[in-house]
Amino acid sequence: MKKIGVLFGQERSFPLALVERIQKLGGGKVHAERAVIDPQRQDREIPYDLLVDRISHEVPFYRMVLKLAVQQGKQVVNNPFWWSCDDKLLCNAIAIDAGVCVPRTVLLPHKQHPPNTTGESFSNLRYPLPWEEIFEYVGFPAFLKPADGGGWRDVYKVKNVEEFFAAYDKSHVLPMILQEGIEFESYFRCYVIGRERVHVMPYDPAQPHHRRYIQEPKDFPASLIQRVENDARALCRALGYDFNTVELAVRKGVPYAIDFMNPAPDADLKSVGEKNFEWVVQNAAEFLIERVQNPRPFEFTGQWVDTRKALLAAAAKASAPAAAQPTAAPTAAPTAAPTAAPAKQAPAPAPAPSSAQAQNKKKK
Ligand SMILES: Nc1ncnc2c1ncn2[C@@H]1O[C@H](COP(=O)(O)OP(=O)(O)O)[C@@H](O)[C@H]1O
Ligand SMILES: [Mg+2]
Repeated sequence: MKKIGVLFGQERSFPLALVERIQKLGGGKVHAERAVIDPQRQDREIPYDLLVDRISHEVPFYRMVLKLAVQQGKQVVNNPFWWSCDDKLLCNAIAIDAGVCVPRTVLLPHKQHPPNTTGESFSNLRYPLPWEEIFEYVGFPAFLKPADGGGWRDVYKVKNVEEFFAAYDKSHVLPMILQEGIEFESYFRCYVIGRERVHVMPYDPAQPHHRRYIQEPKDFPASLIQRVENDARALCRALGYDFNTVELAVRKGVPYAIDFMNPAPDADLKSVGEKNFEWVVQNAAEFLIERVQNPRPFEFTGQWVDTRKALLAAAAKASAPAAAQPTAAPTAAPTAAPTAAPAKQAPAPAPAPSSAQAQNKKKK
């Protein structure tokens, strides 16, 4: 019998429903329970085949237990290693490689010196900062938000330079990104489970929390929904997240990925509504039963490392002098890139820009 433990904090509706659903669908082969975590001895085996993590971003002790679980060959959803080191700048670059459009984004240095540092600690930072170039690249309106944030904390929409500096002053020691504001005609939040199963939810971020998931959405063109689904899948394959929400803002028919690193996404019955809740409980349960019986080998992250290697190899090949190019088929033909992104948006071999890169270069 395989054993799944669900680790959670203050939430109740989703984790308890998930345990119950796995028990129901497990067919006597898979058992699920609320995980019980001990003070962890280094030499003691963690008594689960798979742990579902809904809370280690708030409880560092759990994150350490989960990393040990991976070291012991257990499955952890989501991967605690990648979760510990992603950020919004890196993920945007990964999205571009995966053929997904993202807003123009710049990482800014901390406004205030981080603890135990002084001006002397920043000997390598260009000064004064090239603000004009940054504003020219990003434009206004823009969003100033933490590079490693979540839950809408410290997110500011700024319409001009004055508003930007007022918001930047409030960011204290946080590393922030300044990002082109996408003035969207529609907005979607998607559950993506197992990097494959996608549930697209029209979403209105302007509403109060409990009304954001639009329960009776208008009809959207099938081609748009298909592209949103493809983008959501491409992002989660690249990042290696098995349980994630991806937010895309659609401007002039083009989806832009806004927030797609949510490895413990909101799944509360009250906020997502009954239909979405049923989808996420059922699909998460099915996927976890499948995963615990077919464990994934250890990985640090998703496909993006292979995609990048393939892009670099293609760029090197394209820039090599004609005489030096092999006449026979290359032995190390890149294979990762074409599967990493939907065909329509597959990254073109560099140096020609991918559709996402081209989109990113266009002026609004
Ligand atoms: N570049 C952007 N263009 C348009 N809206 C944005 C942009 N960045 C953030 N937002 C809005 O702000 C909200 C919070 O930003 P988000 O990146 O999701 O932060 P967090 O990770 O804290 O949830 C988003 O749901 C979206 O409504
Ligand atoms: Mg968000």
